[in-house]
Amino acid sequence: MELFRTKTVEQSIRDTEEPEHRLRRDLSALDLVIFGVGVIVGTGIFVLTGQVAKEKAGPAVAISFVLAAVVCGLAALCYAEFSSTVPVAGSAYTFSYATLGEFPAWIIGWDLILELALGAAVVAVGWSGYLDSLLSSAGLHLPNAVLNPPGENGGVVNFPAVLIVLAVTGLLVAGVKVSSRVNAVVVTIKVAIVLLVIVAGLFFVKGGNYHPFIPESKSNASVGGAAAPLMQVLFGITPVSYGWLGIFAAVAIVFFAYIGFDIVATAAEEARRPQRDLPIGLIGSLVITAVLYAAVSLVVVGMQHYTELSDKAPLADAFKAVGHPAFATVISIGAVAGLTTVVLILLLGQSRVFFAMSRDGLLPGWLAAVHPRFGTPYRSTLIMGCIVAVLAGLIPLAKLAELVNIGTLFAFLVVSIGVVLLRRTRPDLPRAFRTPFVPYVPILSVLACLFVMLNLPVETWYRFLAWMVIGAVLYFTYGRTHSRLVRVRTEV
Ligand code: ALA
Repeated sequence: MELFRTKTVEQSIRDTEEPEHRLRRDLSALDLVIFGVGVIVGTGIFVLTGQVAKEKAGPAVAISFVLAAVVCGLAALCYAEFSSTVPVAGSAYTFSYATLGEFPAWIIGWDLILELALGAAVVAVGWSGYLDSLLSSAGLHLPNAVLNPPGENGGVVNFPAVLIVLAVTGLLVAGVKVSSRVNAVVVTIKVAIVLLVIVAGLFFVKGGNYHPFIPESKSNASVGGAAAPLMQVLFGITPVSYGWLGIFAAVAIVFFAYIGFDIVATAAEEARRPQRDLPIGLIGSLVITAVLYAAVSLVVVGMQHYTELSDKAPLADAFKAVGHPAFATVISIGAVAGLTTVVLILLLGQSRVFFAMSRDGLLPGWLAAVHPRFGTPYRSTLIMGCIVAVLAGLIPLAKLAELVNIGTLFAFLVVSIGVVLLRRTRPDLPRAFRTPFVPYVPILSVLACLFVMLNLPVETWYRFLAWMVIGAVLYFTYGRTHSRLVRVRTEV
């Protein structure tokens, strides 16, 4: 049936060889790990840690970070096999086109656009907050109107968020090599700042702040109504924060902190030796960040009682709370630099998914043309950059992160299923990296993703379904008839 027509793996690889659609292959394994760490360490650890410890998990937020890493680790093992088998731009989108068929692939591509575009918008808003905190320390106070979206604190537009998105879009149009160099410098600064928090913070840890490590569960305003996790609604549990249910609800949010390792796979087509470099990039960046997160979150909840953590800039404010504002300033500078790279890589990944989808004819084809000098898909990059800038300027970020998470978890789930299917349908393909214990690891990965998704609020599920319905309508009115697979078959 045509909805499930697949694009063969060979066809996907052949498409990347066409001169007008060719991206430059100049990223090494180290570049990919830097890409990974660059996008992974961001708003999740810098901003969400405080919010989640305060409202959901208490000092046990470190457990949530570890559990989220396990979920991502299982998915990474599946991503690594897929990306080393199908090394072309587009990540989960391309993998599912080769295995599950065109419609599921479209759904995944559409879903990735949600993850990456909204993710970039969320991080740009976080960036704006840290910039504001830095400027205020220097005595420069921007008016609320240009710092907040409409409806929040007298806001009109979040101007710094718009600016950072547009600046990053310019870098991406100018070419991957330039951006990955800029990125490498900023990633170094960011990791140094995270290490500074861990090492300096240790001196201010008070044992008393760890008691109770898992606060007793109780219901509160942040989990009422449609904000209640689906799981608690399904099983008729009165929604609660803290306790183990709180730790699980926190996993569903801090999961955002790991988003990005999957984006390493979107750069597959630009890797020098994708078969070897991609698995290193994916798994390497995940392991590094998991260790950093567990350490940072343990230190921060040890420095300040969880009920007192700040929800805007918890890492910096914990140092203010112990009387060291100079450290706080350094941390804020690092956060501003660090969040810039996150916006950069999220937008890069998103432009590559868009590129892959238009190259396949599922989105208008002129979007896929590559710039003759820069070798980048400049049209899709510019268009999506502008859309993300508008979103970042006008929409509050609070609930957006959850929407990004549900989209990402869904993509992980499909990739995990895809690994098993591809082993059956194309056992002959060379796989530089093989997921261990198939089908058990992919099955575990699917179950883990589903479990985390169930811990997201009911309203997030509604929004996600609405986005998917819009995507399905677009596919049936455009993609299905314009697909390159249709044209190739008619021409032959
Ligand atoms: N993982 C990225 C962050 O935490 C998206 O900002």
